[in-house]
Amino acid sequence: MSTYQNDTILKMINGEQTDRFPVWLMRQAGRILPEYRAIRSSLSGFKELVETPELAAEVTIQPVDILGVDAAIIFSDILVVPEAMGLPYQMIEKKGPWFENVIANEADLKLVSDKIDVADRLGYVVDAIKCTKKELNNRVPLIGFAGAPWTIFCYMTEGQGSKTFSKAKRILYSNPALAHQLLDQITNVTIEYLKLQIEAGADIIQVFDSWAGVLDQSTYSEFGTKYVSRICEAINEVPVTVFAKGAYYAREELATLDCQTIGLDWNMDVEESRRIIGMDKTLQGNLDPCVLYSDFKSIERKTKNLLNSFGNRRHIANLGHGVYPDTDPEKVKCFIETVKAHSIN
Ligand code: CP3
Repeated sequence: MSTYQNDTILKMINGEQTDRFPVWLMRQAGRILPEYRAIRSSLSGFKELVETPELAAEVTIQPVDILGVDAAIIFSDILVVPEAMGLPYQMIEKKGPWFENVIANEADLKLVSDKIDVADRLGYVVDAIKCTKKELNNRVPLIGFAGAPWTIFCYMTEGQGSKTFSKAKRILYSNPALAHQLLDQITNVTIEYLKLQIEAGADIIQVFDSWAGVLDQSTYSEFGTKYVSRICEAINEVPVTVFAKGAYYAREELATLDCQTIGLDWNMDVEESRRIIGMDKTLQGNLDPCVLYSDFKSIERKTKNLLNSFGNRRHIANLGHGVYPDTDPEKVKCFIETVKAHSIN
């Protein structure tokens, strides 16, 4: 028996009957909300917010209060894992993440380690989760998360975002043994980290494979799914969602993972994905975040079309990727309210 005032998302994931589809947004915490920006601008930067549990908890809960979403997602970043392993990052204003040191060859492996005290190095995330759980007071479940090993590998080798990820891919093709060694270490730390999040109170875990789309089917199978699969096998305490952005080609393989939910981006047709993935999993997604730039009527119409494509099947409404920072919060509310007004029968 769940103790939440609103447990629609957990019921949906478990395949229990609900009268509507649950809804939340990737990247809902922050950026779009003036209330977030107010807190953020009083600090030295993004990392101070991530590393201050009380404030991280406050911005985690903002979208629950202001937008009415059915789940909170802990305010943090996937980049805390490479940092804990030995590669510190900076979040450069208006540009994004930047790593001073990167892994390019075997010798660079001395920069990173999976033999670290994860509870100590990432204790601030654990504390933020505990603080969030207390303040959420069982209103909605809390989603914990980590980057998938391939996506973390991308940042550890590129040192920043990239259009082609050719530095990361170069290692896969020129030194696969090195790639596997690093991916294995990332996986070990990620599993330990996710278990700590669950112990602290995370009710659902989402694994973000944001750069899955730059690989092809067999390469993703070898360097991507292999490690996501290890994470899924290791996490049995709570349901797991795998979101492999751009990996439309991998849906058949993703369907075999020991996870409950598969995230879809907006290029993956919902009905086609249901046929490929089958009836045993919950799907999540997948309105193009740019639809939220259109007028209220169009947002409502496109959202209803999307909901109709879910049929009465297991589905969590979401965008097909994170909400963009320049989105009007009223348009976000329009999406959320349209989902909540639609009954399943
Ligand atoms: O979803 C949420 O609301 C919770 C918080 C969250 C953040 N990052 C906060 C954040 C989550 C789940 C992430 C995950 C994340 N971080 C991913 C995977 C999801 C995806 O979008 O594909 C990735 C690839 C990152 C790495 C990252 N962090 C980048 C590339 C950037 C810069 C560009 C951008 O999106 O702003 C960040 C910064 C970041 N992470 C911000 C936030 C709120 C913006 C920083 C700020 O407020 O100044």
